[in-house]
Amino acid sequence: MCGIVGYIGAEDAKEVLLRGLEKLEYRGYDSAGIALVNNEGVHVFKEKGRIAALRDVVDSSVSGTVGIGHTRWATHGPPSRLNAHPHQSETARFTLVHNGVIENYEQLNREYLADMTMKSDTDTEIIVQLIDRFVSEGSEVEAAITKTLSLLKGSYATAIIDKQDPDTVYVGKNKSPLLIGVGEEANVIASDAMAMLQVTNQFLEIMDEELVIVTRDNVTIKTLEGKVISRKPYTAELDSSDIEKGTYPHFMLKEIDEQPFVIRNIIQKYQNEDGSVRLEDNIRTAVTSSDRIYIIAAGTSYHAGLVGKQLIERLTKCPVEVHIASEFLYNMPVLSENPLFIFISQSGETADLRGVLVEVKKLGYQSLTVTNVPGSTLSREADFTLHTYAGPEIAVASTKAYTAQMAVLTLLAVDTAKAKGIELDFDPLQELGIVATVMETLCDQKERFEQIASEFLSETRNCFFIGRATDYFVCLEGSLKLKEISYIQAEGFAGGELKHGTIALIEEGTPVIALATQEHVNLSIRGNVKEVAARGAAPCIISMKGMEEDDDSFVIPTVHKLLTPLASVIPLQLIAYYAALHRGCDVDKPRNLAKSVTVE
Ligand code: M6R
Repeated sequence: MCGIVGYIGAEDAKEVLLRGLEKLEYRGYDSAGIALVNNEGVHVFKEKGRIAALRDVVDSSVSGTVGIGHTRWATHGPPSRLNAHPHQSETARFTLVHNGVIENYEQLNREYLADMTMKSDTDTEIIVQLIDRFVSEGSEVEAAITKTLSLLKGSYATAIIDKQDPDTVYVGKNKSPLLIGVGEEANVIASDAMAMLQVTNQFLEIMDEELVIVTRDNVTIKTLEGKVISRKPYTAELDSSDIEKGTYPHFMLKEIDEQPFVIRNIIQKYQNEDGSVRLEDNIRTAVTSSDRIYIIAAGTSYHAGLVGKQLIERLTKCPVEVHIASEFLYNMPVLSENPLFIFISQSGETADLRGVLVEVKKLGYQSLTVTNVPGSTLSREADFTLHTYAGPEIAVASTKAYTAQMAVLTLLAVDTAKAKGIELDFDPLQELGIVATVMETLCDQKERFEQIASEFLSETRNCFFIGRATDYFVCLEGSLKLKEISYIQAEGFAGGELKHGTIALIEEGTPVIALATQEHVNLSIRGNVKEVAARGAAPCIISMKGMEEDDDSFVIPTVHKLLTPLASVIPLQLIAYYAALHRGCDVDKPRNLAKSVTVE
C-alpha cells in the first residue's frame, strides 16, 4: 500500500527517489510521483501506472538535492495523475506526500476551507491546504504543521516541503509506518528501510504523533506538544541481495524456492544446544497462564492461524479461536477470563490487526505478535514478538512467510506442551527438518506443476479447492493464491460442504483441486471428488504418499501428520504461479492489491 521516500543530501535526489520508489513497488500502487527542489523552485512529476511510466514524464534536465516521492494505492478518488501525490497547496508554497486515510477530511474542509475548491478527489489534499491556510493567517510553519496534524483523525505518514525553506523536510506520523534514515552526508525518509538501503542502513523509528524536522545534517524529533525526543538509530539487518530477484524471473518463484532454507533457519534460531525448542521465558509464561488464545489475522496469515489453532489445541489442549482481524471488533466473542491475543502478520503493519491490538491493550490483555518484521508497528506495540525469520517477502502473494508462520506456531505449541508437562510422541525439530527436505523435493518438480496448471487452469474462469480437516485450511490458502495472482475465481471449500449448495456451480470441465493428505478423512474426500466428477468436474487430486491412488495428479512425500500443511501448500503455490504466468498476469504485482495493507 502507498509508499513514501524522501532525500535531503548532496547528490541529485531524482535517481535516489526513483530507485527508492522501485523498491517500494512490492507494496502495491497504481500511480506515483516525485517532487524535486532546486534554486528555481519545486518541480512535481506524477503519473498514473507504474514507476516506469513516471520515469517517462520526469524531466531529466531537472535536478535537485532535496525531494520527496510517493507510490499511491487509491482509496479516495480513482488512480489518475491528478490524484497522484505529491500534492501542492493553493499558493504552491507547500508540497506534500501522504500515506493513510484522513477520516475527518470533509469536516475539516467545511470548517476551515469552505471558500476553497479542492483540486483533487483525495483526502490527502486537505493536509497541505490547511498548512498553507494557517501560515497565510500568520502561523509559523512548524506551528502550522503541528496544528494541522493535531486536527487530523485517522492515519497518516507524511513528508512536507516548504518552498521558502528548501533545506528542510517536515515529517509526521500517526498509525502509518515511516522511518528516517541517517546517512553520512544525507538523511532520508522511507516507508520501509529497503527503499533507502542505497543511502544508509541506520534508521530511526518515529512514534505516533511525532513531528520530525529533517535537514542534511540533523534530525530533530518532537512530540506534537513540542517536547524534543532523543532516540538512537538502529541498524537495519537487511542484505540488499535479499531484496533482489537474482536469476529468478519473479520474486514469487524465488520466495517459493526459499522455503526449505527458511524452515531450516527457523529450526536453527529456535533450537537449544540439547536439540530442544527455545522460546523466551516470558512468552512461555504468557501462553501457559492464559485460559484461551485468540488468534487475530488477515488473508494468508489468517489461514496460517487456522492451522496454528489445530497445532496448539492438539499439542497443548489450550482452546484457541481464530478471528479475521477486520471483523473481530464488530463480532466480538465473549472473552475468557485470562485471554492471550496472538497477532499473526507478515508485515506487522496491517491496519485491521492494529485496530484490534489497540482495543486489546485498552482492555489490559496480553498480546504476542508473530511477524516477519520485528521492528514493525504490531511488534513494537504488542507485549511480545516471535520472529518468523523468513527474510524480506517482496511478491504480493505471500508464500514463505506463510510456511514460516506455521513453523513458528508449531514451535510455540511444542514449547507450551513441554511447559505443561505434556509428552509428545515425536521430535518436532526433526520433523520440521523432514518438511524442509520434502519442500526441496517439491520445488524440484516445477515442470509437473506447470503441466497441471496448463491442463486444468489455462482456460477456465473458475476453480474449486476441496479438502477435509487440515487440508481444508490449505485449500483456503491455495484458492487465495490462485485468485489473487491469476484472477481465476477460485474458492476453497470443506469437502463435505459442497453438496450443500456450491455443487450447483460445477459444470462440464470445472477444475476441482482436491487435497488428500489426511489419513482419517482420505475416504471421505475421495467420495467428495466422485460427487463432483459425476457432475462433469475435472478433478486434480494431490495426495500424500501412503494414501495415493492410481489417478492422483501428484503424490507428496510423507511428512508428519500435523505438519502436512507446510508441504501440501507448495504444489498449490506453484500451480497458482504457473497459472498466472500462462495467463500473462503480473505475478509479483497483481492488480488492485497491496503487500502491506495499512488502511482499514
Ligand atoms: O502482512 P500481513 O500478514 O498482516 O498481511 C495480511 C494479508 O493482507 C496478506 O496475507 C494477503 O492476504 C496476501 N496478499 C496473501 O498472499
